[in-house]
Amino acid sequence: MSSIQATSMALKQAIYLGVDDDLREAVRVAVMSKYELEPMKEVPHIWPDEISLVLMEFDGNADAVLEQVNQILTLAKGVPVYILLKQKDADFIIEANHQGVQGFIECPNEVFSILSILHMQDRRRQGKNGNVSSLFSLKGGVGCTALATNLASHLNDITEGRTVLVDLNMPLGDTSLYLNMEGQRLYSLTDFIYNLNRFDENLIYKSLSRHESGLYVLSLPNEVGELDSLNGEIIKTIIQSLRRYYDHVVIDCASDLSDMTLSCLDESDNIVLVAEPSLSSFRAVNTVLQLTQKLGYMKESIKLVVNRSTSQDDETLEEVVDAFKVDAVARVANDYFGLNESLKEGRLLKEYKPESVVNQQLFNIANMLHNGSMSVEVAEANKPVKSAKGLLKSFLQKMFQGRVFSTASRVESKKVVVS
Ligand SMILES: Nc1ncnc2c1ncn2[C@@H]1O[C@H](COP(=O)(O)OP(=O)(O)OP(=O)(O)O)[C@@H](O)[C@H]1O
Ligand SMILES: [Mg+2]
Repeated sequence: MSSIQATSMALKQAIYLGVDDDLREAVRVAVMSKYELEPMKEVPHIWPDEISLVLMEFDGNADAVLEQVNQILTLAKGVPVYILLKQKDADFIIEANHQGVQGFIECPNEVFSILSILHMQDRRRQGKNGNVSSLFSLKGGVGCTALATNLASHLNDITEGRTVLVDLNMPLGDTSLYLNMEGQRLYSLTDFIYNLNRFDENLIYKSLSRHESGLYVLSLPNEVGELDSLNGEIIKTIIQSLRRYYDHVVIDCASDLSDMTLSCLDESDNIVLVAEPSLSSFRAVNTVLQLTQKLGYMKESIKLVVNRSTSQDDETLEEVVDAFKVDAVARVANDYFGLNESLKEGRLLKEYKPESVVNQQLFNIANMLHNGSMSVEVAEANKPVKSAKGLLKSFLQKMFQGRVFSTASRVESKKVVVS
């Protein structure tokens, strides 16, 4: 039995137009945290209400598919239509684009990252750039850096190498320590400022330091004196510049309410408040929640992560969490051996203890932060449970029986997609 339970948030409706049962099943699993698929073989005469997405197969018959696209866009103006490419055909792609198709998903390679592709395209269309998630706690020592590094590594997988982790935990950040990059000469925030006006796509990717996992890292300067050149305005400029090039910017914030921290929160799509299940930590969360209200931050941007939670957490604490009235609450289990040991060795949890509950919870949170998909709870159990990602991957692999899931084509195909 699956250990994954969906929460009660309503799913959006999507139409799947096509005849390939295997592909449809794979797509259904890939989008199930956000969409419910209605399979159809033909365009319906009467367009159903509340359809937020149309996914259509293309296996070579350009005229038929273009005709269907035309029918759909006449019936439902503005509905996002994406084509599942079982074959590549440049003429078809150009023509479909011209007709108003929003994007293309190469099958089977990109089926796994379909939600991420939809989400990024949607943002770019609205003129928004990459996502920014700031991990923040007014009380120190609750796990901000441990979560920031591990969430960033999952986000880096989800965005296929377009995530950067920024350390703003002044004066002594721990991200490079936890990633075992301390000995290296790292490209720091002050180097970044120096080059700010000279960056182009090539230079930025070449300049920034990279963890062995592929994650980009922007660390604090070694010299404490160099920190004087940082201030709230500069931090805003840095974030705005990074989000132009990266799909996700993850920030490990300092535990204060300085101008710089507030600049980070201002620029964030996700303000991730990290807490531990103690009254003093919850009091700190409460203070920040009140402040975010005063500052007029959007409620949807606030996420609460209760770290080190155990099944014995007392009821009062649960009531406090409810009283915060934060819509997105996620929990990360207490795992001393997993997190402490992996951090001590400077390794990512996804490599050190991939099957652990905490790793699965972190993957789900990363997915929520990037795709806005609803959170999928991973039940804590004695036996190892498969993560949503694990389930998906094994499912897709079974569906396509050994056909390789390469991610190499992703960057290339981005150029094809014009929206
Ligand atoms: N879910 C967890 N289970 C067990 N231990 C954890 C968990 N999360 C974090 N820890 C441990 O808590 C300690 C503090 O974590 P971390 O350094 O990430 O906190 P922080 O909020 O960044 O602290 P600081 O205020 O010093 O920056 C670390 O030793 C880490 O291993
Ligand atoms: Mg820290």
